[in-house]
Amino acid sequence: MYLMRMVYCSKMSDEFSTKEIDQILASARLNNKKVDVTGLLCFNRKYFLQCLEGGRTEFNKIYHAILNDRRHHNIVLLSYDEIVEREFAHWSMAYVPEVKITDEINMRFSGTPDFDPFSMHGESTFKMLQELKSQISEI
Ligand SMILES: Cc1cc2nc3c(=O)[nH]c(=O)nc-3n(C[C@H](O)[C@H](O)[C@H](O)COP(=O)(O)O)c2cc1C
Repeated sequence: MYLMRMVYCSKMSDEFSTKEIDQILASARLNNKKVDVTGLLCFNRKYFLQCLEGGRTEFNKIYHAILNDRRHHNIVLLSYDEIVEREFAHWSMAYVPEVKITDEINMRFSGTPDFDPFSMHGESTFKMLQELKSQISEI
């Protein structure tokens, strides 16, 4: 089995209400657990930034479902690599809400106080997610 990690970003669509984040997390956690996919999702009511890790086949099935989800659009793949170890092994889908993505963290990883993964270097997005690991919320 090849273990992969992917990071992508997307824009929230008009069909999405921010309250639906709970539903996304619930189905993500249920589905991911079944196929041993793990990861982290960040959301600031405008953009999503998500890291997914898992076996290549299972993982790509999940990614295809995500690509077809009308609650977001403009999905941009930022990185896709074979890995030896997971970064988010303890979370079927961890969540970092907007309030934890501070100006200071944005400044460090993107050079601006705004959270806009579309304007970031792919490598910086993963480094930012690693930093946000300590800010994972329990919802
Ligand atoms: C930003 C975003 C992230 C998502 N992440 C996942 C995920 O990690 N795993 C997953 O199974 N579904 C995820 N989903 C939901 C899928 O797009 C899709 O709705 C779901 O897989 C359908 O499965 P269900 O019928 O069991 O709910 C995500 C959706 C969005 C908009």
